[in-house]
Amino acid sequence: MSEAVSEAVTLLKQGEVVALPTETVYGLAADAFNAEAVAKVFEAKERPSFDPLIVHVASVEQLSEVAVVPEEIEKTVQKLISAFWPGPLTLVLPKSDKVPDLVTSGLPDVAVRQSGNKIFRAIGKELGSPIAAPSANRFGRISPTAGSAVMKELGGRIPLIVDGGACRDGLESTIVRIEAGEKRPIIHILRLGPVTKKELQNFGRVVIEKKRVIDDHVQAPGQLASHYAPVTPLLMFDKPQDFKPEPGKKYGLLSHKGEKKAGYLDLHEWAMVESLSPGSGKLPEAAVRLFHVLRVLDEAGLDAIVAEPVSDTGLGQAIMDRLRRAAIDPA
Ligand code: TXA
Ligand code: MG
Repeated sequence: MSEAVSEAVTLLKQGEVVALPTETVYGLAADAFNAEAVAKVFEAKERPSFDPLIVHVASVEQLSEVAVVPEEIEKTVQKLISAFWPGPLTLVLPKSDKVPDLVTSGLPDVAVRQSGNKIFRAIGKELGSPIAAPSANRFGRISPTAGSAVMKELGGRIPLIVDGGACRDGLESTIVRIEAGEKRPIIHILRLGPVTKKELQNFGRVVIEKKRVIDDHVQAPGQLASHYAPVTPLLMFDKPQDFKPEPGKKYGLLSHKGEKKAGYLDLHEWAMVESLSPGSGKLPEAAVRLFHVLRVLDEAGLDAIVAEPVSDTGLGQAIMDRLRRAAIDPA
């Protein structure tokens, strides 16, 4: 066992919080069965307590300690788990009594996934308890996809950041709720992510949930309109020509491929240009780089960031979802 792994396990057992890498984004971890430890997560993140946390299981067997899978969706749950776990798919299921209410913010359901990150898995296995972990950013800010980004978000507030390098996917997990349905199961996507609508369509009818609030609870509060927001205003336009720069202001361009033909590069004398997929021009590269590039632009002292849209299909849907949320004024 590496030193970082054993240090993390020791701290988690003591009821402390530690930042850990996952394949999606970095998480701020606590023992999910220790309510006091979970309270520290909310404190470090300055997160409103109405926002429930994702619970990460170390094995499929551990799922039964955390959730009670209703019979009518059991088969679909099993199929989804064998297709996507360990990996970036989170299932919302009725919670077991062992899960403290603080974890689910009093909701009867718990969001569960098994992370595929090697370091995270080693820690979960050694700890023996499921790990509650939201993204390791301060509330409403950009999710960290590198150890250095966690340092900027939470440095000095938590005892340990385990640096596992850059995250493989770069976007938070896809969150779904499963309904038995009459003929086929219905898979409600509560948050778009690395597992796409198309991939889920093999397992049922897929509905992207637009409705955000049920009984005063936000259904997936990552769905709060403004989220993942840089401090610098982020602007998006349907057509590049709609961008009308104000004189004397410094604008940065968040370009997709850094290509001239998209029409954005020639629009203006940008103070800074960052591309989402400069290498392959493909969406997985864009997803991996999105939060990193947003952070770089946010730290550049610009008056505003102009974001070029990406295609709104497949993984592009999840990227556009994050960009649209980042573009909304949090106030
Ligand atoms: O990829 C990920 O999911 C990362 C890594 C660390 O695993 N975690 C993450 O957690 O993104 P967080 O807390 O930043 O976002 C979790 C989302 C929130 O929008 C939360 O509201 C939703 O999951 N959620 C958690 N429990 C829920 C529940 N019982 N019902 C509906 N939504 C829930
Ligand atoms: Mg988050």
